Parts: sequence; structure tokens; C-alpha cells
Amino acid sequence: MKITIFGTGYVGLVTGTCLADVGHDVLCMDVDAEKITRLEAGEIPIYEPGLESMVKHNVGTGRLRFTTDPAEAVAFGVLQFIAVGTPPDEDGSADLQYVLAVADTIGEHMQEDKVIVDKSTVPVGTADKVLAQVQKRLASRGAEFDVEVCSNPEFLKEGAAIEDFTHGARIIVGTNSERVKRLMRECYAPYIRLQEKLMFMDVRAAELTKYAANAMLATKISFMNEIANLAERLGADVEQVRRGIGSDPRIGYHFIYPGCGYGGSCFPKDVQALERTARDVDYQAELLAAVESVNNRQKQTLFSKLANAFDGDLKGRTIALWGLSFKPNTDDMRDAPSRTLMEALWDAGATVQAYDPEAMKECRRLYGERDDLLLAGDRVQAVKGADALVICTEWKEFRSLDFAWLKSQLSMPVIVDGRNLYDPEIVRDAGLMYYAVGRGDSLLA
Ligand code: UDX
Repeated sequence: MKITIFGTGYVGLVTGTCLADVGHDVLCMDVDAEKITRLEAGEIPIYEPGLESMVKHNVGTGRLRFTTDPAEAVAFGVLQFIAVGTPPDEDGSADLQYVLAVADTIGEHMQEDKVIVDKSTVPVGTADKVLAQVQKRLASRGAEFDVEVCSNPEFLKEGAAIEDFTHGARIIVGTNSERVKRLMRECYAPYIRLQEKLMFMDVRAAELTKYAANAMLATKISFMNEIANLAERLGADVEQVRRGIGSDPRIGYHFIYPGCGYGGSCFPKDVQALERTARDVDYQAELLAAVESVNNRQKQTLFSKLANAFDGDLKGRTIALWGLSFKPNTDDMRDAPSRTLMEALWDAGATVQAYDPEAMKECRRLYGERDDLLLAGDRVQAVKGADALVICTEWKEFRSLDFAWLKSQLSMPVIVDGRNLYDPEIVRDAGLMYYAVGRGDSLLA
């Protein structure tokens, strides 16, 4: 099947590559010529386990190709996927300018009937806007072709995107058209052989499903962070509480890990956008607002814990920071808790010695050269000469640690752990103060 993908960002590239990998002919289009040249050479702009070799392989077979030519892109695919960004604009609602620009391009160049697939995370009602935009463009050319728009939201997790694409829980397609259903079934046929995962529904239901799923997961996290903060004040260990409630199948173990707040490109943006959508239809989404504000507060807690450990004065202190990405197995620092922490530390006059297995380049790109930021070559170097250690991301390599060695390195025997990685008793036995989230010496704070 011939498929065009507009946008070679995270979602577009993973989608295009995975579809090529199962035998479809895929053409990915992007307006960024430099990016396209690099992709043609098999160089990928993001860190995602397994993706680079998959891109190289499929470029090699000729099934995955790239272009900057809009006419070629529109002519190619029966299905035209839109997978461009929808960044939040000033008021938190999703900015549709890139999505609508693609719709315009399709309307400008199409010479036969097309099916458009909205893959970008877009507010409810966007499919109608995309259709209107294409029709307007067609009318301006005096052309008449049949256009159908369906919604096919993605549920990829960074760091596990290929696995999520190939073995996801469900594939949602919002459409009432039998022709679109048939084409989408053909597109996803390689993934649904073992299990019927295709779920057809109305366009608006599909659009809302994406936001509802992310908002539900964000709610679970904020709920658990609230319980952790309470546990801290009540003298209970939240990790025991987590196991206690997770064992109830109605609650489940997923997404109830307390921590230093959720980040990334989806949860913060999508919760905000859904709240904004609610306001547009005169509904006050109180729960969503609370989920967001609990998360914003949670991102501040690492700094508060450090400040408490140093009697409120961090001026001139050097803090070792492990983990910069918003979660492991990615170099993405969008809305990462590490950023809130670093910025607060700098404001307080402290120096940060940071290490992350993948996000060092991204950190340099974001913050540039500065005297109060030292990017260390490894976790050991980050700790050298530091006063205390703080952990923002649960990378595997941070999970075990020689606490006696750590104590010998730090001027103050303090670990602030935003991911509850260690057993508080073991840390305490090594003579360190252990401030975690809803457990450890935080209980005494
Ligand atoms: C998320 C959704 O999981 C995915 O389905 C959707 O398509 C995009 O958004 P992603 O942002 O890649 O994926 O990461 P995810 O693994 O969901 O983690 C999001 C954030 O929540 C991270 O900052 C993570 O540290 C945090 N988190 C997650 C917790 O704090 N506790 C948890 O129990 C789970």
C-alpha cells in the first residue's frame, strides 16, 4: 500500500518506519530540507531505541523514502497521514497552524481522491476543520475530488515507541466511512493478525479518546503524588501504600509511581489543551486543573527538599544531578522535572554537576555554556566535589549504588531521590540522609 506521512518528527518517523517495515511503501515529507537529507543518510534526529537501525534497513530496501516536495508527497499515498506538531499556544490550546498547513498543501496538489488520516494529537473537531481547509483549497483551484478525513490517534511512549506501535493495546480509527475503514484495515492488517485490535468509532470520539487516555494517566500520577505528599506528613511509606492499592485489579499497578512530577511532550500539553477545550464549551474541568497544579507543585518538591537539607541556603553549593530527561530511554527534556530543579538551583546561587546517559547534548542545546552548569562524563564525575546528590530520572544505571563510596564523595551526606530508587534503611545504614518521595527521611521533615 502507498502511504504518505507529513511530518518526520517523533510520531511521523516512528509511524512511517514501522509501516515500511511490514511491507508498505512509505514516503515521508518534511519542509525541513536539512532533516530530510540527514534522514536519507539514515541519521535520525531523536533518540529512540531500535529506530535508527530500522530506518536504515527500510531506506536500504527502498520502502522508506523521504522528500521535501509537496506535490510528490500528495501524489504518492492513497492514505495521507498528518503527523506534524501541535504545540500549545499562549492560552494552552493546541496550535493547529501546522496541521492546517498540511491540509492546505493536500488541497493544493491533489489530482485524485484521497483519504487523510489525523495522527497528530488534535482537539475534538479538528477533522472537520481539516476537511474544510482541503475543500476550500480545492474550490479555489476549481478542482473536484473526494476527500475523507479520519482520526487515528497515536499512543506511543517515548523509549518504547516501536514496541507500542507494533504491539499496542488498540488501534483507534474515527470514521463512519466504509471506504476509509477498508483502507485503514489494509494499512494495519500486519498488526492485527494475532488479535483484533482495530476499534472503529465516530471521529469525535476518537479525537477525545486520545486526550482522555493521557488525562487519565496524568490523573493517576498526580493522585499518587498527592498521596505521597500526605504519606510524608503522616509518617507512612508510600511505596507500601502503592503496592497495597495496586494489588486491587480495579486500580492496577500501572502509572501509580509517585515521583518528581510528569513531564514530556504529551501529558503536560494534553491536560492543558483538554482543559482549554472544556472552557471553550463552557465547562469548568476542575479535576484536570487540579491534576495540572498538583504536578506543577510536585516539580518544585526536589528543590524544597534540598533547600531544607541546607537550612534554606544553597548559595555557593554544588549539587550533583543524575538524570535530565523526563524519563529513561529518551533524550527528551521537554517539561522535564530536572529543568524546574536546575533553574531553581541556579536562582538560589548553586552550581549543578549533571549527568544523563542520553540527554547531555540536549541539555547543552537548551542551556548553553554557563559557569553554574557542569556536564559530567559519567555518574561518578558528577558526584566529585559535590555537596549533595539529587536524582530526577530512574535510568537503569542509577538503580544500584555503593552508598559508602557516595558518602565519602559528598560534603553533606544527602541524597534527594525524586524516583524512590533505594531502600531507605540501606541508605540510612550507610550514614546518609535519604529524602525520597513519600518515604525515607522525608517522613521526618
Ligand atoms: C505518554 C503516554 O504514555 C503515551 O501513551 C502517549 O502516546 C504519549 O504520552 P510518554 O510521554 O512518552 O507517553 O511517557 P510515559 O512513559 O507515559 O511517562 C510520562 C511521564 O509520567 C514521565 O515523566 C514519567 O516519569 C511520569 N510517570 C509515569 C510517573 O511519574 N509515574 C508513573 O507511574 C508513570
